[in-house]
Amino acid sequence: MGALRTAVVGAGAIGSLHARIYAEHPYSELVGIVDVNPQTAAAVAEPLGVPWFTEVSDLLSACRFDAASVSVPEHFRYESSMPLAKAGKHLLLEKPLAPSLAEADRLIADLRETGVLTMVNFILRFDPRYSEAKAAAAGGRLGDIHTMFTRRRGSYLGADIYGVWTDLLISTGIHDLDVMAWLADSPVVRVYAETISRRLAPYEHDDSAMVMVRFDNGAIGVLETSWVMPNRLPAGLDACLEVVGTGGALFIDSSNHGLSIMDAEAYSKPDLTHWPVILDRVGGDLAASLDHFIRSIRRGAAPEMTLEKARHAQAMVDAAKRSAAAHVPMELTPPPG
Ligand SMILES: NC(=O)c1ccc[n+]([C@@H]2O[C@H](COP(=O)([O-])OP(=O)(O)OC[C@H]3O[C@@H](n4cnc5c(N)ncnc54)[C@H](O)[C@@H]3O)[C@@H](O)[C@H]2O)c1
Repeated sequence: MGALRTAVVGAGAIGSLHARIYAEHPYSELVGIVDVNPQTAAAVAEPLGVPWFTEVSDLLSACRFDAASVSVPEHFRYESSMPLAKAGKHLLLEKPLAPSLAEADRLIADLRETGVLTMVNFILRFDPRYSEAKAAAAGGRLGDIHTMFTRRRGSYLGADIYGVWTDLLISTGIHDLDVMAWLADSPVVRVYAETISRRLAPYEHDDSAMVMVRFDNGAIGVLETSWVMPNRLPAGLDACLEVVGTGGALFIDSSNHGLSIMDAEAYSKPDLTHWPVILDRVGGDLAASLDHFIRSIRRGAAPEMTLEKARHAQAMVDAAKRSAAAHVPMELTPPPG
């Protein structure tokens, strides 16, 4: 099989990185970019030497390709994805699938009808620290997991940039809820959440959330997430994973990627995990996730992060939001049918 011909729909903060990774990948040939904003589309496409469009329909008419990333905000995931899937293009969807669980279920049902390979971009599964944690848990090195603690704290800039159009749990906390479900490898019994809304109260979104999850095998997981810290976080995000089991424990400190730089301006801990640039190429877990997507298509194999697993993470967020609103624990809404 020759290089996979690829495209990107939604060329903002994350989509511009998808485009660059496709352009740099040895088994991918980037053929075009779509962004509803022509300045954004041109700024990403022109340095990569590919045509740009403001409509998916124009990309479909003008370019022959096999697969696309859909990295628009989740409110536009359905309308951007379905024309591509109906045209037989394999899809890498950014997380979350949709703003709500009901909309995610509609997208999953309609995508299944098309038969295209679809992967959802949960990058922590491609972070070597988290994949080693999964291997340790799955290999029995921790014994029976008792407790998991995850943290993902951002600064108020997260609220100002993202809180106006998305929310903390669906955009940020969903990563760690997925990690806990992945490690526990057991059905969720119930979810209890409490949230605080101050800065984002005008948007009816939360600034902070504490979520507790009980799994059927007895494991208990807690997520703390917020967009409250001052805008001086050295690493951008203060994140961690801690797991304690009957046979051992593991600890990931994600507030730090192993490098600290102090200069006249700031004390920083640059990202070396998610999308660092190494010898002019984007690396890290985002590039590993796109590489896995490309290889899954070439092998005709199911990807690591399927629609079903992404739906499960979304159902945990949905239960957490219902719990926070009602102040009582909630069960997950099962998939339709
Ligand atoms: N997997 C991850 O780690 C990760 C990281 C960041 C963002 N994301 C997800 O990616 C999505 C985008 O986030 P972002 O930070 O890149 O946002 P962004 O605002 O920087 O970029 C979104 C882009 O989509 C374009 N767009 C909007 N509607 C469109 C449409 N209908 N057709 C074509 N283009 C359209 C916008 O003009 C913008 O350029 C979100 O769902 C977010 O949760 C995932």
